[in-house]
Amino acid sequence: MRAIVCCSLSKDFNFDKNLILQELPPPNLSEGYVRIAVQAAGVNFADTLTLQGRYQDKLEPPFIPGFEVSGVVLEIHAHDAPCRVGDRVMAITRSGGFAEECVVRASDVFAIPDSMDFIQAAGFPIAYGTSYYGLKMRAHLQAGDVLVVHGAAGGVGLTAVECGRLIGATVIATAGSKDKLKIAKERGADYLINYRQENVREVIRTLTGGHGADVIYDPVGGTISTESLRVLAPNGRLLVVGFASGHVPQIPANIMMVKNISCIGFSFNAYRTIDPAGIRIAFQKLLEWFVAGDLCPYIHCTLDLAEVSKALETLLARRAIGKVILTTN
Ligand SMILES: NC(=O)c1ccc[n+]([C@@H]2O[C@H](COP(=O)([O-])OP(=O)(O)OC[C@H]3O[C@@H](n4cnc5c(N)ncnc54)[C@H](OP(=O)(O)O)[C@@H]3O)[C@@H](O)[C@H]2O)c1
Repeated sequence: MRAIVCCSLSKDFNFDKNLILQELPPPNLSEGYVRIAVQAAGVNFADTLTLQGRYQDKLEPPFIPGFEVSGVVLEIHAHDAPCRVGDRVMAITRSGGFAEECVVRASDVFAIPDSMDFIQAAGFPIAYGTSYYGLKMRAHLQAGDVLVVHGAAGGVGLTAVECGRLIGATVIATAGSKDKLKIAKERGADYLINYRQENVREVIRTLTGGHGADVIYDPVGGTISTESLRVLAPNGRLLVVGFASGHVPQIPANIMMVKNISCIGFSFNAYRTIDPAGIRIAFQKLLEWFVAGDLCPYIHCTLDLAEVSKALETLLARRAIGKVILTTN
């Protein structure tokens, strides 16, 4: 099979030098796992971190990167697998996605509806899984709440806008350009803030008539997190999703106390083990929404597996809107 191999970590962002397209034997299938003929793989910001050795779960080279795939089930070595050989599926994996074949935990495999193609499916599980489960189960977002989504046109951000709208929240989207905000609006944002031009704190305060945000979905980190913390409503929740800015915010405990607000960390990766049944219920809802036409993955571009460096650079240069996808044929 063709596979992208990380032969050394790319501390200098020079992915071209460290990622090699190789012909390899397919991976072994162990108990509890499913083999998938990969049609497409989603590219995540976490791939850029893993390849630099900066992700929380470190991998030692050589390894095949790639956290999510879509394709067809080739072989099953699990009695309780939620799929059969020949099924069209999407799946989440710790590594190995950027290859023509991939083995994944049976519990991380989800059937694809007939109306969903492999490109859409490859960009679905991590972004929508993170946003819906995080907003619903961790931040307890309710209909009528005001939700602020930072980085609202990114992979996870755009799905948070869609999920927030579908849960019934008023959605305020923040992003760094007019084009990004335009897509966030198309996906259901009620209000837009360009954080390169406007004062996020002041605009949120004005938009909410002084009430502030009930929930802030934050995959960006840095100053925007600490700024927006000050504009959370009483009993508001900051959902800490990631640090695409490269800066981990230091949360002032005094503000948490005085304003009665909570900061909630959320790692979707961990919850796949903590609450697999809850994750499956979340996917059922998300896929119902997809079939009904209520949400749809936004695909920025599709590239061949061999163009993996270009895909990663698109994310790091903040050019991507929605998902970047690699295909195997
Ligand atoms: N907690 C979890 O379970 C979980 C799951 C998935 C992802 N994440 C995390 O969420 C974050 C976003 O992931 P993603 O895959 O959605 O990434 P993405 O598609 O690249 O989106 C990241 C967004 O962050 C903004 N950003 C601000 N500063 C940036 C910078 N210096 N470099 C790049 N982007 C910057 C960009 O929007 P503007 O240009 O508009 O600012 C961009 O749209 C990452 O930190 C990732 O690790 C966490």
